Amino acid sequence: MADKEIVALSHVHLRGARFVYIAALFAALGGLLFGYDTGVISGALIFIKREFGLTTAAEEVVVSGVLLGATIGAIVGGKAADRFGRRRVLLVTAAIFGIGALASAVAPSPAILIASRVVLGSAIGLASTNVPVYLSEVAPPHARGWVVSLFQLAVTVGIVVAYLTDYAFAGVGGWRWMLGLAVAPALVFGAGMFFLPETPRWLIRGGHHEVAHRVLVRIRELPDVNLEIDEIKASLAQQAESGHWTDLLRRQVRPALVVGLGLAVFQQITGINTVIYYAPKILQAAGFNSASGAILATVGVGVVNVGMTILAMSLVDRAGRRPLLLAGIAGMIVTLGVLGLSFRISNPSGQLAWIAVICLMGYVASFAISLGPIFWLLIAEIYPLKIRGLAEGTAATFNWGSNLIVSLTFLTLVEKLGASSTFLLYAVASVASWLFAYYFVPETRGRSLEQIEAFWRTRHGVRQTAR
Ligand code: BGC
Repeated sequence: MADKEIVALSHVHLRGARFVYIAALFAALGGLLFGYDTGVISGALIFIKREFGLTTAAEEVVVSGVLLGATIGAIVGGKAADRFGRRRVLLVTAAIFGIGALASAVAPSPAILIASRVVLGSAIGLASTNVPVYLSEVAPPHARGWVVSLFQLAVTVGIVVAYLTDYAFAGVGGWRWMLGLAVAPALVFGAGMFFLPETPRWLIRGGHHEVAHRVLVRIRELPDVNLEIDEIKASLAQQAESGHWTDLLRRQVRPALVVGLGLAVFQQITGINTVIYYAPKILQAAGFNSASGAILATVGVGVVNVGMTILAMSLVDRAGRRPLLLAGIAGMIVTLGVLGLSFRISNPSGQLAWIAVICLMGYVASFAISLGPIFWLLIAEIYPLKIRGLAEGTAATFNWGSNLIVSLTFLTLVEKLGASSTFLLYAVASVASWLFAYYFVPETRGRSLEQIEAFWRTRHGVRQTAR
């Protein structure tokens, strides 16, 4: 290749990447809001319970309202984006984020608080299905991998920001500020989406070829984008043959569907969000006396989550998905087991609180290098192109639905079975998820999406692909 060509090519990458960085930044705000609005409740709950005098069941509903909304948002999200466009749906998502945050901050009664949290949740569900789709459709192929993981990173950062906000307002019991401040990133997210273009893929699908051409020239910063337009058209022609609900159950697709739905459920029934949403309560149960101390320890848990997610991002393409998944879930089994057993012993010296903190950190760290990022990554890469959006949406719906069930039952389980048996139950679920990952999840590292698609067709043994 001539020197001039090489210079021209690297210039193209840089210019193309510039747009991707901006798009990723704004779209990541959707992930940040996902993390913030789900995580903020952990610190706010103590004060909400106090102000409204909530029963345990009512507390669970306040936490889970968001998840019910998210499940609904994920169900309609994929279809709405196909019909109205990704950008328009994300603009509406930003507006719902803002309205939901304000409404929950000023809620005069538990009923209005719960209703506002359901509305807010629908925005989270919409964001979780549409932000990754938007990003993957505007990203140049070579950047798609890190962009997908960036979404999970934004979720974990959102959780830490929520914990810090909780900590800042804990002294004055300011739960309304904790919930209301999410309006700021929602505004920035909305403004960003206003200026970002619709994806070329959706425009071409809708027959808006000229606009799609203009958008591609703008985001790739290239005068000639015909090759990419032809590729999009070719893949759409392939998709036109199918892409319906019934296709999800076709024999060739079924194994991938089982992997996606299985991971969606296991990501949640191994208990991650009992820690993310209820950490201060768990810590108080383990002996932390002040609300602020428990919330501060929770910030530590959130920071570990971010740090280990960054580590996972740097390892996932080198070590592969399966080793991270299996090692991480093994860590979850051990830490949950120790946490469960530690609640069995009496605690005259107050050391239990520290064992609990260490176990919670170890558990979150293990999740963050395994089921956390790898679930969202795999559901973006294991499905055939024809049904990718639909199948991803279905996996996201199962994920939110399972999250809802776990969060709705956690406090009741603790009350009826005790903290020890409850965490041991999640340890058993983790053993099942390790076995599931070992026997069913394929290694996808270093393979093109087409090779993965071909793998499902020929269906060699799953572990064979790990080698
Ligand atoms: C999960 C969320 C969880 C978060 C914690 C995500 O992958 O889907 O339910 O709260 O990780 O970091």
